[in-house]
Amino acid sequence: MINSHQINRCLFPVAGYGTRFLPATKAIPKEMLPILTKPLIQYGVEEAISAGINAMVMVTNKHKSAIKNHFKPHLDIEASIKGSAKESLLDEINHIINQCTFTYTEQQQMLGLGDAIYSGRMLIGNETFAVILADDLCVNKGDSVLQQMSELHKKYPDCCIVAIEQVPMSEVDKYGVIAGELLEKNVYQVINMIEKPNPKDAPTNLAIIGRYILSADIFPALENTKVDKNGEIQITDALLSLAKKGKVIAYQFQGKRFDCGSVKGFVSATEHFAKNLILRTI
Ligand code: G1P
Repeated sequence: MINSHQINRCLFPVAGYGTRFLPATKAIPKEMLPILTKPLIQYGVEEAISAGINAMVMVTNKHKSAIKNHFKPHLDIEASIKGSAKESLLDEINHIINQCTFTYTEQQQMLGLGDAIYSGRMLIGNETFAVILADDLCVNKGDSVLQQMSELHKKYPDCCIVAIEQVPMSEVDKYGVIAGELLEKNVYQVINMIEKPNPKDAPTNLAIIGRYILSADIFPALENTKVDKNGEIQITDALLSLAKKGKVIAYQFQGKRFDCGSVKGFVSATEHFAKNLILRTI
């Protein structure tokens, strides 16, 4: 049976330069930095797959060919490890390559997350889609964060959904922040949202993290969104115009999120995965 609420595509904005990680990110895209042996982008793609999605849309730039290569077979390496104990190390990534499609488009200018998402519109089409910011690495023992959100989408099919978590008030200026009315446990109807507010102006400490489910209404909303004071188009501002029509839900997810866009968060994520590592014998 066709499930009309199934989300088919996930957009990954991967055009940023990752300047906080220089010089590591001079030749390697920040999304390719590994937590142990797996690059951040692969964790993101695995989360999308866990939500039943198998079409990955990458909004990229000309310096990011390593991402494209990661999601292609590497026949030389395969030949060189064939029959050895290392052969299975490519199983996971090859399984992903076999079950998913990857399409790429370039963001022409660095005009913010809203512009990056808008750049993917031709590859998304007129349907609801997910967005994963691979910098925000999320882990949970049960359903993944995107899986939790796609379950919620079935209940609120006409709404966009943003994932939120409580952050210290002193850190709200790093995030989009929402204010809303509680609809049910962990679920808010968004009534206001502000991108990176000064802590003294923030309505709450409920910060948006890098998981979104967006209806196709977001594209006209983005077209009508003005650039902010830094010359960027913010997804938060476009979502606010939909929130005013009662079309945005915020979901306080189950699980833990690591901000791998910062060195501190990256180290915490590495420690977390190292603790849970089943030691390789190779
Ligand atoms: C972006 C969004 C922001 C959100 C954050 C989550 O900001 O603009 O609303 O809270 O991702 O990681 P960025 O981190 O790209 O500056």
